[in-house]
Amino acid sequence: MRFTLPVTLLLTSLSLASTYGEEINFDYKKADLPIEKRVEVLLSQMTLEEKVKQLTQGLAGDNNNPNNQNPKVDKFDALLGSVIFGTDNVYERNAIQKQVMEKSRLGIPLLFGDDIIHGYRTMFPSPLAQSCSWNPSLIEESCRVAALEGKSAGIDWTFSPMIDIARDARWGRMMEGYGEDPYATSVYTRAAVRGYQGETMPYRMAACLKHYVAYGASEGGRDYAYTEVSRQTLWDTYLPPYEAGVEAGALTLMSGFNDISGIPATANHYTLTEVLRGKWDFRGFVVSDWHSMAQLQTHGFVADHAEAAAKSINAGLDMDMIDGIYPAHLANQVKEGNVSEKTIDESVARVLRVKFQLGLFDNPYTPVEEREKRYLLPEYRKAAYQSAVESMVLLKNDDKALPITNKIKNVALIGPLVKAKNDLMGGWSARGRAEDVIDIEEGLRKAAPKGMKIKYAQGCDINSDKTDRFAEAMEIARNSDIVILCVGESRGMSGENTSRSSLSLPGVQEQLIDEIAKTGKPVVLLVTSGRAISFHKIEPKVKSILMTWHLGTEAGNAIAALLFGNENPSGRLSITLPRTEGQIPIYYNMRSRGRRHQGFYQDISTDPMYWFGHGLSYTSYDYTDFKVSHNEFTASDNLTVSVNVRNTGEKTGKETVFLYMHDVAASITQPMKRLIGFEKVELKPNESKTVTFTLEPQKDMSFANDKGDKLLEPGKFVLMVDKHKKDVFLKK
Ligand code: GLC
Repeated sequence: MRFTLPVTLLLTSLSLASTYGEEINFDYKKADLPIEKRVEVLLSQMTLEEKVKQLTQGLAGDNNNPNNQNPKVDKFDALLGSVIFGTDNVYERNAIQKQVMEKSRLGIPLLFGDDIIHGYRTMFPSPLAQSCSWNPSLIEESCRVAALEGKSAGIDWTFSPMIDIARDARWGRMMEGYGEDPYATSVYTRAAVRGYQGETMPYRMAACLKHYVAYGASEGGRDYAYTEVSRQTLWDTYLPPYEAGVEAGALTLMSGFNDISGIPATANHYTLTEVLRGKWDFRGFVVSDWHSMAQLQTHGFVADHAEAAAKSINAGLDMDMIDGIYPAHLANQVKEGNVSEKTIDESVARVLRVKFQLGLFDNPYTPVEEREKRYLLPEYRKAAYQSAVESMVLLKNDDKALPITNKIKNVALIGPLVKAKNDLMGGWSARGRAEDVIDIEEGLRKAAPKGMKIKYAQGCDINSDKTDRFAEAMEIARNSDIVILCVGESRGMSGENTSRSSLSLPGVQEQLIDEIAKTGKPVVLLVTSGRAISFHKIEPKVKSILMTWHLGTEAGNAIAALLFGNENPSGRLSITLPRTEGQIPIYYNMRSRGRRHQGFYQDISTDPMYWFGHGLSYTSYDYTDFKVSHNEFTASDNLTVSVNVRNTGEKTGKETVFLYMHDVAASITQPMKRLIGFEKVELKPNESKTVTFTLEPQKDMSFANDKGDKLLEPGKFVLMVDKHKKDVFLKK
């Protein structure tokens, strides 16, 4: 169902302006007035109908989200608060805004939103890929570039960053988030909010923390499914990135589709009001997800849409995305006494506040510039390239098969992802265009050393049972010195509504690997995917495995740079890669079993294929001089932790130093290993640097209970960097 208003209602709402009649105080249009004053002056003059419309989001332009199809909307209501703007036609955007500003009584500008998830026209690696770079400044830059391109097309609000902690790779939306760790995701969330919004008003573009909250816990990795989440787990795993984003000044949140232990996120008073406003004093607004308000009925939480309207607004859900439930029922719910107008005023004030903070009242229109001057600027492509280089993770590299040197004369380039420009961008690719993407063959041919011959064969499809092209691939493999085999998922196999029961490569790709391996040629496997892939059967058959995720517009250039050694891989996993889906859930910050010497699988190793934090380089590093300022400390002491890292190889490289802790005995059991700090440093051959972390025990070493209190209890803690460990004791 899509939401548009019949023309009669449209005309009625417009005629309000003439019959309403009273003198309007336009002080709210004065840019020099404080925002809270402008909100107050405007809100005090709004009718109930105008307030309800501000809490309503409709559609304008085409929507290219394959999962939420809707026909083009050619009519809309000039009183609407927001639209999802599904094109980059800035003329259309300004024409719509002009109608809103001039045809409605109060001229409240429309807020144009869109899914700008990892780039707008210049496509960056997927967020999951970017989270493996351990470089927050690159993430901030990718969001800044995305906001500049999106803003130039008329978008004021992006439904990003997605910060759902995900530990189940069967859930396709893992590709949209920043991995399995709450601390890392919190750091990346702050970077993304800075990148999208900027740090001074008028903000560049409103960010939207989503999907609030614990959507990543969907049972069985089945999208939209029930999420059983204890209050304590909510606080120690799923809420921290949202707290970080709110602290960073994010202007909006989006509620999740999920039912949080019996109370769906879209009408969950605890998360939306007690936590978000009560504990965190969040002053922005929350929008529902696509039809998530109507789905309260499907969840069995409400009997009808009238009840959905009342329960949602009373829980703290401010804006209705697409459902049209608020405009259809809210005013009546006020009349029936189920909703107070004060509640509605609070929500409207939040929406108006964001519009003032974005400067929309003062500059409602987008400057019109030619596309060529706004998109794919060299600096944008350079940023996308750097992000792609640092996002790839070298999982295996036996016999130094990589980098490929000029001793190699014949390369067989095989696989269904070699030239798959559209798939190399990944899901949620906004206005990204396949023709802008450098594919893997193009990248390799551009960067290959003189005299190197590269032969290409597709070998098979991404996801079909056809093996008729194996022979051609086998032929070029047999006549090569090395095979670069590009496998993985299509764009549509990860992202929303893309759950898979298996983590194996789709189609006949694993058969192709088997056949190529039989030639005895060294195989370098490049994996394009939006989730963890099961390498259990594949790993023994290949020399090297490079996780390339979905790298975006500069994919081929970045991959070629790594393969030929012009860049040194520095990515590290932000998720744990299980051997098979049978190990799920598996993540690095697990709590201990009561019997550590038992409880192992009988059929496969209980360890994952690759742990969170794993990643190889073309150089090597040595960690020495691990020091901690205190053996014993009090809650008011700052602990200084330092370690010396040396590049002991022949290539310059970037190394991420991870600081972990373990709270050995606590009133709530704690993970065996918990990330509390990381820093990426660049080191030339034989260069060393001392990396120092300063820990404030209450902030950095406490844990949450089921009320969100941060507890720091006396006793033993273990601090860990690389292979070094140090016991420290918190005194009473
Ligand atoms: C989708 C997604 C959400 C997206 C929204 C608008 O269903 O769940 O992430 O921002 O609808 O497209």
